[in-house]
Amino acid sequence: MIPVLVPDLPTADKLLPFFKEIDHSKHYTNFGQFEQKLTADLERHYFNLHNTSAKATLTNSGTSALQLALLSLNAGPGTRVLVPNFTFPATVTAALTLGCEIVLGDVDDKTGFLDIEDALSHSSDFDIMIPVACMGKVLPCNDFIKIANEQNKALISDCAPAFPYHPLCGLTTFSFHATKPFGIGEGGLLLNEQEIRSAKQITNFGFLEHQVNSIGNNFKLNEYSAAIGLAQLTRLTEIGQQRKTIYQKLKDSLSYLDETCFFYSDDETILENFSYPYFILRFDDPTIIEAITTQFQQAKIGLRRWYYPTIIEHPYFSNHERIRSLNDLKTSKKLASQLIGIPMHNFLTDSDIKLISKNIKKVISHV
Ligand SMILES: Cc1ncc(COP(=O)(O)O)c(C=O)c1O
Repeated sequence: MIPVLVPDLPTADKLLPFFKEIDHSKHYTNFGQFEQKLTADLERHYFNLHNTSAKATLTNSGTSALQLALLSLNAGPGTRVLVPNFTFPATVTAALTLGCEIVLGDVDDKTGFLDIEDALSHSSDFDIMIPVACMGKVLPCNDFIKIANEQNKALISDCAPAFPYHPLCGLTTFSFHATKPFGIGEGGLLLNEQEIRSAKQITNFGFLEHQVNSIGNNFKLNEYSAAIGLAQLTRLTEIGQQRKTIYQKLKDSLSYLDETCFFYSDDETILENFSYPYFILRFDDPTIIEAITTQFQQAKIGLRRWYYPTIIEHPYFSNHERIRSLNDLKTSKKLASQLIGIPMHNFLTDSDIKLISKNIKKVISHV
């Protein structure tokens, strides 16, 4: 089977020196030396890449980073959070489990981003908005920041798979889950222009000098994970280059497809600031998606529907008393029915790519 995603993490021999140091220090968590170094190194790396200084708070997952951002804004029961209907469930779950009301917005058909016009025309319906960097694409940050400022809304951007390339866009969160381009196993990051004073204490039960001084949870990143992060950071450029090369080879092998079948436009992918997290194809005709699914099963090629079904179509969310929709959400439902993710990872061989291309061609030439 050719898997859709394969983590590319540092090998055990790269990690051993770090782990030996942990053996020696007996410091396993609670803001140890590796957590502190990773925080500083990520800030430096981000500054070098974007020429903007950002303050980092590490967390134990991308979902925790979203919750941390929400808690730092005092979100809770009564807070209305605008989220696109086309996203991974964690964007919703992070707010829902804090007692917030979820307001689902539709997305732009081409980009999959939260529909800005829609958000603007319903600005009295929400307090916080969480646009999602759909499939790792870079959000139109200036537009979202402008709305947030003009309408007096808080802005959190869920950029889960887009580290380190996504620019700051309000409170900006990332996932370091194993399958993400910057994967460490489990981990997450909250970046913000200024230091969020309470952020670190929220990750540690709200403790400030042995007293609970704010709301909190246990979102801390342990030392083993931070060590993986440090080892992974030394490979970041190499990993990025490899992903870009694989993406390009895949794209070349599918040159028989119309340009409209590629969810990322060339404008997006030729940019250096792209993490190449997935390879997403778009087909308007649902029979093609069904046929590719069957063909891939026979050929033992993995396939993933992203994000299918949409949030409102999941049984739990569809009947939830704290979730409502701004409209019929038809664009997001349509988009979800048209996208498929094919294998995209650093271990794809040339013959895997040939096989993937051959099997898609077989389907296309029969419809
Ligand atoms: C858009 C989006 N948001 C949030 C998350 C959650 O991240 P994590 O798995 O690190 O909690 C994911 C994970 O895939 C995601 O794709």
